[in-house]
Amino acid sequence: MDIPQIGFGTWTLKGKECIEAVKEAILLGYRHIDTAQMYGNEIEVGKAIKESNINRKDIFITTKICAPNTTYELTKKAVFQSLENLGLDYIDLVLIHEPYSTFTEMYKALEELKNKGIIRFIGVSNFNKQEILKLLKNCAIKPYVNQIEMHIFYQQENYRSFLHELGIRVVAWSPLCANPKEIIDNLILTDISRKYYKSNVQIALKFLLQNDVVIIPKTIHKDRMKENLNIMDFSLSNEDIEKIKLLDQNKSKFGWYY
Ligand SMILES: NC(=O)c1ccc[n+]([C@@H]2O[C@H](COP(=O)([O-])OP(=O)(O)OC[C@H]3O[C@@H](n4cnc5c(N)ncnc54)[C@H](OP(=O)(O)O)[C@@H]3O)[C@@H](O)[C@H]2O)c1
Repeated sequence: MDIPQIGFGTWTLKGKECIEAVKEAILLGYRHIDTAQMYGNEIEVGKAIKESNINRKDIFITTKICAPNTTYELTKKAVFQSLENLGLDYIDLVLIHEPYSTFTEMYKALEELKNKGIIRFIGVSNFNKQEILKLLKNCAIKPYVNQIEMHIFYQQENYRSFLHELGIRVVAWSPLCANPKEIIDNLILTDISRKYYKSNVQIALKFLLQNDVVIIPKTIHKDRMKENLNIMDFSLSNEDIEKIKLLDQNKSKFGWYY
């Protein structure tokens, strides 16, 4: 199973709320869940998967390894901890959460676990161009994805093309800017959304999908889960894509620079 283009983000979800939200998302049709050791919710994500009775093979789980587990040995240990937390015997995708100075040894540990079948795909998150080039010089397995901040106000068109040309998938974190108010209030998006009988949020997410980007929006609300998923039945015209391109502010909303 390749990475589904629409996933469900879980940052900030905790405890019972996390279990319920992930179960609801699976029930509605999400087949890709994004978690991380940093979020402190792998146990809840694992419980939700179990309780949803979904066939393990039909769901794609991403987790991420972070500091202080930044050595070769600690990275391996951390992956086994994630397996235990999630209650799984393999993980679909494991990422290095940030470009720690030791990322090449961390990546080597991930390569070995991939070769043993414990992880299906390996990748990185928040890596810039130089870090990707350094990794490519020092690795045997090309990263499957780079998960980076991306939304209509920070489109990163050049960096996205660079990654795509290398055959590295782009996963957009905070595809709704972590707070969609600016998207909802945007009059250009409102104008476009009326044509397609869709919401501004759906137009903003569809723009990413049409640029071959994987999205992982997070919400605790069932109606919004449906809304974020219900974007496969239309296509933005080239003219509207060009209008949305002009909304790019070329600046991270969270202080990340690539
Ligand atoms: N790799 C990294 O370093 C990194 C960094 C940040 C995030 N991530 C991942 O990316 C995922 C998504 O990013 P994010 O959680 O920062 O933000 P996001 O998905 O861009 O936005 C989430 C916010 O939008 C609201 N929302 C969602 N759907 C909506 C809709 N249809 N209408 C109106 N409001 C809506 C949610 O509110 P409600 O919940 O109240 O509906 C929440 O406040 C995270 O959960 C995490 O898995 C990764």
